[in-house]
Amino acid sequence: MTSLLLTGIGSLVTNDPARGDLLGELHDAALVIDGSKVAWVGSRREAPASDAALDVGGRAVIPGFVDSHSHLVFAGDRAEEFAARMTGTPYSAGGIRTTVAATRQATDEQLTANVARLVTEMRRQGTTTVEIKSGYGLTVGDEARALEIAGHFTDETTYLGAHVVPPEYADDPAGYVSLVTGPMLDAAAKHAKWVDVFVERGAFDESQGRAILEAGMARGLKARVHANQLGEGPGVQLACSVGAAAADHCTYLTDADIDALASTGVVAGLLPAIEFSTRSPYPNARRLLDAGVTVALATDCNPGSGYSSSMPFCIALAVREMHMTPAEALWSATAGGAASLHRSDIGHLTPGAQANLSILDAPTYLHLPYRPGVPLITQTYLAGRPL
Ligand code: NIG
Ligand code: FE
Repeated sequence: MTSLLLTGIGSLVTNDPARGDLLGELHDAALVIDGSKVAWVGSRREAPASDAALDVGGRAVIPGFVDSHSHLVFAGDRAEEFAARMTGTPYSAGGIRTTVAATRQATDEQLTANVARLVTEMRRQGTTTVEIKSGYGLTVGDEARALEIAGHFTDETTYLGAHVVPPEYADDPAGYVSLVTGPMLDAAAKHAKWVDVFVERGAFDESQGRAILEAGMARGLKARVHANQLGEGPGVQLACSVGAAAADHCTYLTDADIDALASTGVVAGLLPAIEFSTRSPYPNARRLLDAGVTVALATDCNPGSGYSSSMPFCIALAVREMHMTPAEALWSATAGGAASLHRSDIGHLTPGAQANLSILDAPTYLHLPYRPGVPLITQTYLAGRPL
């Protein structure tokens, strides 16, 4: 194993709570990578000897982004649907069926190539961990293959057979829930870490959602929920009552929902690229943060409700549109994502952590929201290796 000293770091975001401020920021800093891990962090003047050194010339270094919510296994796109939304057609869950039809037609190679393309896109924008869901297959075979393909790219795979009721079950939603909790789960479980359900009008209700999450949990999967995206509803309370890791979307919340998130510690996943692309009101991040809820920011990259793979874009939206501070937004895009995925080895740069980090072409992380749309990520390291 060789060690690499990154030195001349103008601003180093460690997310180390022991360092006082939210981001554990150090100035004029250095960091040593040994193999796949962070070995040492501190002042440039105190840096230990290492096999190699790289002076980053005063640039900022941040933890790699943890994108805790995406739907990358699909075929086709829905650009026309986006264009129609921009002239007033509202978003509805039913559009998912368009992508289901295209995905079922696609070969394994086509689906794999699409995931590879999007993961590459994400990595160029500083994402070092991505959660990937199934949910555009909705047959036993198509859900299992989506998860198998996702598993080539990440350990954070999520079974979302309960994305929407597919057309062939339109008259028998109960039959579809039996499939999702029975044979489809049997086929999916070995390829998945998580189970998810879209609790929403037009998708699944509270009791169906509970049955699906409990069936998955009984098979050793951990729960996460698409909750309260298009209107107030039971999703957040369901997530809290089953002990899910995260309730994602959280666009329409009651005070009781916020209390439940705060008291259970369920992470609220906010996905502002979706509100941007569906021209919807943004979630009230301040209400959540001020109540002490842990917030994760994620892209939700998918061909329907929002097709951005960019965590820097989400940070800019969080700051400009959701009134998060730049520090809160960066924390939520890194440590918050790690909390959402129950991962303690990522989302921070302290000794022993995975050496997942990005060098910005900027003196401080503040440039992420300050310079929206500008490709500031110059170099990303994943498990200690430059990408
Ligand atoms: O997270 N909300 C449900 N699922 C996706 C949208 C999927 C689609 O429109 O294709 C989401 O927004
Ligand atoms: Fe989603």
